[in-house]
Amino acid sequence: MPDTSHHDAFVEFERVQKSYDGIQLVVKDLNLTMPKGEFLTMLGPSGSGKTTCLMMLAGFETATHGDIRLDGRPINNIPPHKRGIGMVFQNYALFPHMTISENLSFPLEVRKIGKSDREAKVKRALDMVEMGAFGGRRPAQLSGGQQQRIALARALVFEPELVLMDEPLGALDKQLREKMQFEITHLAHRLGITVVYVTHDQTEALTMSDRVAVFDDGRIQQLAPPDELYEKPQNSFVAQFIGENNTLEGTIREMNGDRCVVQLNNGDLIDAMPVNVSQVGERTRVSIRPERVEFNKDRLQEGVHTLKAEVLEFIYMGDIFRTRLKVAGNDEFVIKTRNAPDQVRLEPGAQIEIGWLPEDCRALDAPN
Ligand SMILES: Nc1ncnc2c1ncn2[C@@H]1O[C@H](COP(=O)(O)OP(=O)(O)OP(=O)(O)O)[C@@H](O)[C@H]1O
Ligand SMILES: [Mg+2]
Repeated sequence: MPDTSHHDAFVEFERVQKSYDGIQLVVKDLNLTMPKGEFLTMLGPSGSGKTTCLMMLAGFETATHGDIRLDGRPINNIPPHKRGIGMVFQNYALFPHMTISENLSFPLEVRKIGKSDREAKVKRALDMVEMGAFGGRRPAQLSGGQQQRIALARALVFEPELVLMDEPLGALDKQLREKMQFEITHLAHRLGITVVYVTHDQTEALTMSDRVAVFDDGRIQQLAPPDELYEKPQNSFVAQFIGENNTLEGTIREMNGDRCVVQLNNGDLIDAMPVNVSQVGERTRVSIRPERVEFNKDRLQEGVHTLKAEVLEFIYMGDIFRTRLKVAGNDEFVIKTRNAPDQVRLEPGAQIEIGWLPEDCRALDAPN
């Protein structure tokens, strides 16, 4: 075994770039290190380079520049059957001429697993995806969602060290999708499988992952655990992409360490935490989560700036109230409050005053 200095690195992308046409880079500068057993999700808009990264890791595409290593070794030096990678791709077809059971048995046969062991593993995998009764059918005799579940079972049946999944639950209804989310993460953690997962669904990304990599334009914009990503977005793109978010634009007027004062476009002043702004006079877009806005004066911190707001709409959602406000010219400003016995239901037309803890208001890069 070659001794690698950092044993933690099971999957590594180092300065990886990819171009399909030799002109345009679709992956621009990818650096990523995953320890063994990590569940990492790539999340990002269509065309941001997620599938391309999975294809390079699987060895189906080669990087134009940079290195990709698996367990310390460059991926291209490992023969495909020794990679131990299970895959569920967006268009990863089942073998049409084989039955479902044969499809699942195949990766085990390739790995020289004995017959009785194979049968037990195939049964367990089919039960996991609730397809126990379908072993004798052929793929064409299944619905799209059922085929997707079989593809998932086939990727996991040989207990691979690394599993790559590209939108594996896309065709499933909400209930089965949530059940499978739980099954996949549970199984991966129990078996110590390292997973790179791709999804468009941010709730899925937040609930399943140890860390989430937010992609945009061929770059990772932020790589962090779910709570950090949601609560501490590092730039405007991530703040907008993850969860619901209120934005206001203005100019930095004062910088005092981890606090700043921002003058909004209408002249009002607010307190914020500087994140990727550094100078007085700089333009900024501040970001505040709807559940962190306070309108009860008693609960606002002494001395912080407040803003006047007009209530435009009140929506009862059962567990929460969602109230839309007009704030500093923005009539899409939303606040969310818990439906508690003493909670106020704001009436449309009411004039209120809102505020927040300065650390909940993040001063980020302004759009160009
Ligand atoms: N085989 C290919 N040849 C040329 N260009 C490609 C090829 N595959 C992907 N691309 C381009 O590379 C970019 C990244 O594509 P990729 O499939 O990695 O995006 P993605 O993030 O997976 O998007 P989606 O969420 O829609 O699946 C896109 O602009 C796409 O058009
Ligand atoms: Mg894709």
